[in-house]
Amino acid sequence: MHKPVLLHESIDALDVQVGEIFLDGTLGGGGHSIEVLRRLDGKVRIIGLDQDSKAVELAREKLNIEAKTENFRNLDKVLGELSILSIDAILFDLGISTDQFEESDLPAQIGRGFSFLRDEPLDMRMSREGPTAADILNSWDEHAIELILRGFGEEKFSRKIARLIVERREVKPFKTTFDLVGTVLEVKPRSWRDRIHPATKTFQALRIAVNEELTALEIGLEKGFKVLGQNGRFAVISFHSLEDRIVKNFFRDRIKEKVAIQITKKPVTPSAEEIQINPRSRSAKLRVIKKL
Ligand SMILES: C[S@@+](CC[C@H](N)C(=O)[O-])C[C@H]1O[C@@H](n2cnc3c(N)ncnc32)[C@H](O)[C@@H]1O
Repeated sequence: MHKPVLLHESIDALDVQVGEIFLDGTLGGGGHSIEVLRRLDGKVRIIGLDQDSKAVELAREKLNIEAKTENFRNLDKVLGELSILSIDAILFDLGISTDQFEESDLPAQIGRGFSFLRDEPLDMRMSREGPTAADILNSWDEHAIELILRGFGEEKFSRKIARLIVERREVKPFKTTFDLVGTVLEVKPRSWRDRIHPATKTFQALRIAVNEELTALEIGLEKGFKVLGQNGRFAVISFHSLEDRIVKNFFRDRIKEKVAIQITKKPVTPSAEEIQINPRSRSAKLRVIKKL
Protein backbone atom coordinates (compact mmCIF):
# COMPACT_ATOMS: atom_id res chain seq x y z
CA MET A 1 0.00 0.00 0.00
CA HIS A 2 1.42 3.41 -1.00
CA LYS A 3 2.06 5.81 1.89
CA PRO A 4 1.49 9.42 0.77
CA VAL A 5 4.62 11.55 1.12
CA LEU A 6 4.62 15.04 2.70
CA LEU A 7 0.85 14.67 2.97
CA HIS A 8 -0.02 17.37 5.48
CA GLU A 9 2.69 19.74 4.30
CA SER A 10 1.45 19.63 0.69
CA ILE A 11 -2.28 19.78 1.46
CA ASP A 12 -1.77 22.61 3.98
CA ALA A 13 0.15 24.60 1.36
CA LEU A 14 -2.44 23.93 -1.37
CA ASP A 15 -5.14 25.18 0.99
CA VAL A 16 -8.03 23.90 -1.16
CA GLN A 17 -11.36 25.52 -0.19
CA VAL A 18 -14.95 24.28 -0.31
CA GLY A 19 -16.29 24.48 -3.88
CA GLU A 20 -12.89 24.78 -5.55
CA ILE A 21 -11.50 22.57 -8.34
CA PHE A 22 -8.39 20.53 -7.50
CA LEU A 23 -6.34 18.69 -10.13
CA ASP A 24 -4.44 15.71 -8.72
CA GLY A 25 -2.07 15.05 -11.62
CA THR A 26 -0.64 11.86 -10.10
CA LEU A 27 -3.40 9.93 -8.36
CA GLY A 28 -1.39 6.80 -7.45
CA GLY A 29 -3.06 5.30 -4.38
CA GLY A 30 -5.20 8.45 -4.05
CA GLY A 31 -3.62 9.43 -0.71
CA HIS A 32 -3.49 13.18 -1.32
CA SER A 33 -6.97 13.34 -2.87
CA ILE A 34 -8.42 11.39 0.07
CA GLU A 35 -6.98 13.98 2.47
CA VAL A 36 -8.49 16.87 0.47
CA LEU A 37 -11.89 15.13 0.42
CA ARG A 38 -11.64 14.43 4.16
CA ARG A 39 -10.77 18.01 5.09
CA LEU A 40 -13.59 19.48 2.99
CA ASP A 41 -16.15 16.82 3.75
CA GLY A 42 -16.31 15.97 0.03
CA LYS A 43 -17.37 19.51 -0.97
CA VAL A 44 -14.73 19.91 -3.65
CA ARG A 45 -14.40 18.90 -7.29
CA ILE A 46 -11.36 16.69 -7.87
CA ILE A 47 -10.04 15.77 -11.30
CA GLY A 48 -7.55 12.93 -10.88
CA LEU A 49 -5.08 11.78 -13.53
CA ASP A 50 -2.69 8.87 -13.68
CA GLN A 51 -1.00 7.36 -16.69
CA ASP A 52 -1.40 3.95 -15.05
CA SER A 53 -4.92 2.64 -15.74
CA LYS A 54 -4.76 0.38 -12.70
CA ALA A 55 -4.32 3.34 -10.33
CA VAL A 56 -7.28 5.07 -12.00
CA GLU A 57 -9.49 1.97 -11.71
CA LEU A 58 -8.74 1.69 -7.99
CA ALA A 59 -9.35 5.41 -7.42
CA ARG A 60 -12.72 5.16 -9.21
CA GLU A 61 -13.72 2.29 -6.94
CA LYS A 62 -12.92 4.03 -3.70
CA LEU A 63 -13.18 7.79 -4.30
CA ASN A 64 -15.91 10.13 -5.45
CA ILE A 65 -13.75 11.99 -7.98
CA GLU A 66 -13.43 12.29 -11.77
CA ALA A 67 -10.51 9.98 -12.53
CA LYS A 68 -8.97 9.64 -16.00
CA THR A 69 -6.16 7.50 -17.37
CA GLU A 70 -3.93 10.20 -18.84
CA ASN A 71 -0.44 11.61 -18.62
CA PHE A 72 -0.43 15.03 -16.98
CA ARG A 73 1.40 16.30 -20.05
CA ASN A 74 -2.08 16.14 -21.66
CA LEU A 75 -3.97 17.83 -18.83
CA ASP A 76 -5.26 20.54 -21.20
CA LYS A 77 -7.01 17.87 -23.27
CA VAL A 78 -8.75 16.37 -20.21
CA LEU A 79 -9.84 19.77 -18.88
CA GLY A 80 -11.05 20.74 -22.37
CA GLU A 81 -13.20 17.59 -22.54
CA LEU A 82 -14.70 18.51 -19.16
CA SER A 83 -15.18 22.15 -20.28
CA ILE A 84 -13.10 23.38 -17.33
CA LEU A 85 -11.43 26.71 -18.10
CA SER A 86 -9.66 27.36 -14.82
CA ILE A 87 -8.59 25.39 -11.75
CA ASP A 88 -7.70 26.40 -8.20
CA ALA A 89 -5.00 23.96 -7.14
CA ILE A 90 -2.71 21.38 -8.73
CA LEU A 91 -0.50 18.66 -7.26
CA PHE A 92 2.14 16.59 -9.04
CA ASP A 93 3.58 13.92 -6.72
CA LEU A 94 6.21 12.56 -9.09
CA GLY A 95 7.73 9.16 -9.77
CA ILE A 96 6.23 5.77 -9.17
CA SER A 97 4.06 4.56 -6.31
CA THR A 98 4.87 1.79 -3.90
CA ASP A 99 1.97 -0.11 -5.47
CA GLN A 100 3.79 -0.12 -8.82
CA PHE A 101 7.01 -1.28 -7.15
CA GLU A 102 5.20 -3.92 -5.21
CA GLU A 103 3.48 -5.42 -8.18
CA SER A 104 6.80 -7.18 -7.97
CA ASP A 105 5.18 -9.29 -5.26
CA LEU A 106 2.92 -10.77 -7.90
CA PRO A 107 4.07 -13.72 -10.04
CA ALA A 108 7.17 -12.79 -12.02
CA GLN A 109 5.39 -12.43 -15.37
CA ILE A 110 3.20 -9.64 -14.00
CA GLY A 111 5.83 -7.46 -12.26
CA ARG A 112 6.88 -4.44 -14.28
CA GLY A 113 10.59 -4.47 -13.67
CA PHE A 114 10.91 -1.29 -11.60
CA SER A 115 12.94 -3.03 -8.91
CA PHE A 116 16.42 -4.49 -9.35
CA LEU A 117 15.83 -6.73 -6.35
CA ARG A 118 13.53 -9.17 -8.14
CA ASP A 119 13.83 -10.94 -11.48
CA GLU A 120 11.03 -9.62 -13.69
CA PRO A 121 10.46 -8.64 -17.33
CA LEU A 122 12.43 -5.49 -18.06
CA ASP A 123 9.40 -3.32 -18.84
CA MET A 124 9.25 -0.15 -16.64
CA ARG A 125 6.32 1.49 -18.49
CA MET A 126 3.94 3.22 -16.09
CA SER A 127 1.36 3.56 -18.88
CA ARG A 128 1.93 0.04 -20.30
CA GLU A 129 2.28 1.62 -23.78
CA GLY A 130 5.26 2.31 -26.05
CA PRO A 131 8.78 0.84 -25.97
CA THR A 132 9.89 -1.05 -22.86
CA ALA A 133 13.23 -0.78 -21.06
CA ALA A 134 14.27 -4.04 -22.80
CA ASP A 135 13.40 -2.53 -26.22
CA ILE A 136 15.71 0.41 -25.47
CA LEU A 137 18.60 -1.77 -24.30
CA ASN A 138 18.23 -4.13 -27.29
CA SER A 139 17.95 -1.51 -30.02
CA TRP A 140 19.40 1.92 -29.13
CA ASP A 141 22.96 2.61 -30.16
CA GLU A 142 25.74 2.54 -27.60
CA HIS A 143 26.16 6.31 -27.45
CA ALA A 144 22.44 6.92 -26.89
CA ILE A 145 22.42 4.39 -24.02
CA GLU A 146 25.51 6.02 -22.54
CA LEU A 147 23.80 9.43 -22.72
CA ILE A 148 20.69 8.31 -20.85
CA LEU A 149 22.74 6.57 -18.15
CA ARG A 150 24.82 9.71 -17.67
CA GLY A 151 22.07 12.29 -18.18
CA PHE A 152 19.21 10.63 -16.30
CA GLY A 153 21.17 8.51 -13.81
CA GLU A 154 24.29 10.64 -13.25
CA GLU A 155 26.06 7.26 -13.55
CA LYS A 156 29.86 7.68 -13.57
CA PHE A 157 30.39 4.34 -15.29
CA SER A 158 27.91 5.13 -18.09
CA ARG A 159 30.39 4.51 -20.91
CA LYS A 160 31.57 1.11 -19.65
CA ILE A 161 28.05 -0.06 -18.81
CA ALA A 162 26.73 1.03 -22.24
CA ARG A 163 29.57 -0.81 -23.98
CA LEU A 164 28.93 -4.03 -22.06
CA ILE A 165 25.17 -3.78 -22.72
CA VAL A 166 25.82 -3.64 -26.46
CA GLU A 167 28.27 -6.57 -26.30
CA ARG A 168 25.86 -8.63 -24.21
CA ARG A 169 22.81 -8.13 -26.38
CA GLU A 170 24.68 -9.58 -29.38
CA VAL A 171 24.96 -12.85 -27.45
CA LYS A 172 21.53 -12.77 -25.76
CA PRO A 173 18.95 -9.98 -25.88
CA PHE A 174 17.97 -8.36 -22.55
CA LYS A 175 14.74 -9.77 -21.16
CA THR A 176 14.69 -9.48 -17.39
CA THR A 177 15.84 -7.16 -14.63
CA PHE A 178 18.49 -9.64 -13.52
CA ASP A 179 20.01 -9.66 -17.05
CA LEU A 180 20.65 -5.94 -16.53
CA VAL A 181 21.69 -6.20 -12.88
CA GLY A 182 24.27 -8.88 -13.87
CA THR A 183 25.71 -6.60 -16.56
CA VAL A 184 25.98 -3.60 -14.22
CA LEU A 185 27.61 -5.72 -11.51
CA GLU A 186 30.30 -6.83 -13.97
CA VAL A 187 31.29 -3.19 -14.41
CA LYS A 188 30.63 -2.14 -10.80
CA PRO A 189 31.07 -5.07 -8.41
CA ARG A 190 29.32 -4.67 -5.06
CA SER A 191 31.44 -3.30 -2.26
CA TRP A 192 30.75 -2.88 1.45
CA ARG A 193 31.35 0.83 0.93
CA ASP A 194 28.32 1.23 -1.39
CA ARG A 195 25.53 3.27 0.16
CA ILE A 196 23.19 2.28 -2.65
CA HIS A 197 22.94 -0.81 -4.88
CA PRO A 198 25.30 -0.49 -7.91
CA ALA A 199 22.33 -0.76 -10.31
CA THR A 200 20.27 2.03 -8.67
CA LYS A 201 21.36 4.78 -11.07
CA THR A 202 21.05 2.61 -14.18
CA PHE A 203 17.49 1.65 -13.22
CA GLN A 204 16.55 5.28 -12.46
CA ALA A 205 17.93 6.39 -15.83
CA LEU A 206 16.06 3.75 -17.79
CA ARG A 207 12.78 4.43 -16.00
CA ILE A 208 13.06 8.16 -16.77
CA ALA A 209 13.83 7.40 -20.44
CA VAL A 210 11.06 4.81 -20.88
CA ASN A 211 8.41 7.14 -19.42
CA GLU A 212 9.90 10.38 -20.84
CA GLU A 213 9.49 11.68 -17.31
CA LEU A 214 11.42 14.93 -17.60
CA THR A 215 9.74 16.02 -20.83
CA ALA A 216 6.33 15.21 -19.32
CA LEU A 217 7.22 17.29 -16.26
CA GLU A 218 8.27 20.31 -18.34
CA ILE A 219 5.10 20.17 -20.42
CA GLY A 220 2.88 19.48 -17.38
CA LEU A 221 4.30 22.49 -15.51
CA GLU A 222 3.69 24.82 -18.47
CA LYS A 223 0.16 23.59 -19.14
CA GLY A 224 -0.76 23.40 -15.45
CA PHE A 225 0.39 26.95 -14.73
CA LYS A 226 -1.49 28.23 -17.76
CA VAL A 227 -4.81 26.78 -16.62
CA LEU A 228 -4.46 27.92 -12.98
CA GLY A 229 -6.80 30.76 -12.10
CA GLN A 230 -5.87 33.87 -10.12
CA ASN A 231 -4.52 32.84 -6.68
CA GLY A 232 -4.26 29.24 -7.94
CA ARG A 233 -1.71 27.09 -6.10
CA PHE A 234 0.74 24.66 -7.73
CA ALA A 235 2.57 22.06 -5.60
CA VAL A 236 5.16 19.57 -6.81
CA ILE A 237 6.83 16.79 -4.83
CA SER A 238 10.01 15.58 -6.55
CA PHE A 239 12.28 12.67 -5.68
CA HIS A 240 15.62 13.34 -7.37
CA SER A 241 17.76 16.29 -8.34
CA LEU A 242 16.92 16.22 -12.07
CA GLU A 243 13.21 16.61 -11.36
CA ASP A 244 13.76 19.14 -8.60
CA ARG A 245 15.96 21.32 -10.84
CA ILE A 246 13.21 21.54 -13.47
CA VAL A 247 10.59 22.48 -10.86
CA LYS A 248 12.90 24.96 -9.11
CA ASN A 249 13.78 26.74 -12.36
CA PHE A 250 10.21 26.81 -13.63
CA PHE A 251 8.89 28.29 -10.36
CA ARG A 252 11.83 30.73 -10.10
CA ASP A 253 11.15 32.06 -13.61
CA ARG A 254 7.43 32.62 -12.88
CA ILE A 255 8.38 34.48 -9.67
CA LYS A 256 10.93 36.63 -11.56
CA GLU A 257 8.26 37.48 -14.13
CA LYS A 258 6.08 38.54 -11.20
CA VAL A 259 3.25 36.24 -12.24
CA ALA A 260 3.61 34.05 -9.13
CA ILE A 261 4.80 34.16 -5.53
CA GLN A 262 6.49 31.49 -3.50
CA ILE A 263 4.39 29.77 -0.83
CA THR A 264 7.12 27.54 0.59
CA LYS A 265 10.27 29.63 1.06
CA LYS A 266 12.66 26.70 0.97
CA PRO A 267 11.80 23.28 -0.43
CA VAL A 268 9.97 21.34 2.28
CA THR A 269 11.51 17.97 3.18
CA PRO A 270 10.10 15.12 5.28
CA SER A 271 10.57 15.08 9.05
CA ALA A 272 12.87 12.51 10.65
CA GLU A 273 9.72 10.78 11.87
CA GLU A 274 8.25 10.48 8.36
CA ILE A 275 11.55 9.13 7.00
CA GLN A 276 11.60 6.54 9.75
CA ILE A 277 8.06 5.38 9.01
CA ASN A 278 8.47 5.62 5.23
CA PRO A 279 12.14 5.43 4.10
CA ARG A 280 11.08 6.03 0.46
CA SER A 281 10.19 9.60 1.44
CA ARG A 282 13.79 10.48 2.28
CA SER A 283 14.67 12.20 -0.99
CA ALA A 284 11.33 14.06 -1.35
CA LYS A 285 11.19 17.84 -1.86
CA LEU A 286 8.02 19.90 -1.96
CA ARG A 287 7.86 23.28 -3.73
CA VAL A 288 4.69 25.38 -3.96
CA ILE A 289 3.83 28.64 -5.72
CA LYS A 290 0.71 30.77 -6.04
CA LYS A 291 -0.31 32.45 -9.31
CA LEU A 292 -0.96 36.18 -9.12
C1 LIG B 1 4.20 8.86 -6.12
S1 LIG B 1 2.78 8.24 -6.90
C2 LIG B 1 1.48 9.27 -6.35
C3 LIG B 1 0.95 8.86 -5.02
C4 LIG B 1 -0.29 9.58 -4.54
N1 LIG B 1 -0.08 11.02 -4.39
C5 LIG B 1 -0.72 8.99 -3.23
O1 LIG B 1 -0.42 9.58 -2.19
O2 LIG B 1 -1.31 7.91 -3.22
C6 LIG B 1 2.98 8.76 -8.53
C7 LIG B 1 1.88 8.29 -9.49
O3 LIG B 1 1.90 9.19 -10.57
C8 LIG B 1 1.83 8.50 -11.78
N2 LIG B 1 2.56 9.33 -12.73
C9 LIG B 1 3.89 9.59 -12.78
N3 LIG B 1 4.17 10.43 -13.78
C10 LIG B 1 2.97 10.75 -14.36
C11 LIG B 1 2.59 11.58 -15.45
N4 LIG B 1 3.49 12.24 -16.17
N5 LIG B 1 1.27 11.67 -15.75
C12 LIG B 1 0.33 10.97 -15.05
N6 LIG B 1 0.64 10.15 -14.02
C13 LIG B 1 1.94 10.04 -13.69
C14 LIG B 1 2.42 7.14 -11.53
O4 LIG B 1 1.83 6.20 -12.40
C15 LIG B 1 2.05 6.91 -10.05
O5 LIG B 1 0.85 6.18 -9.94
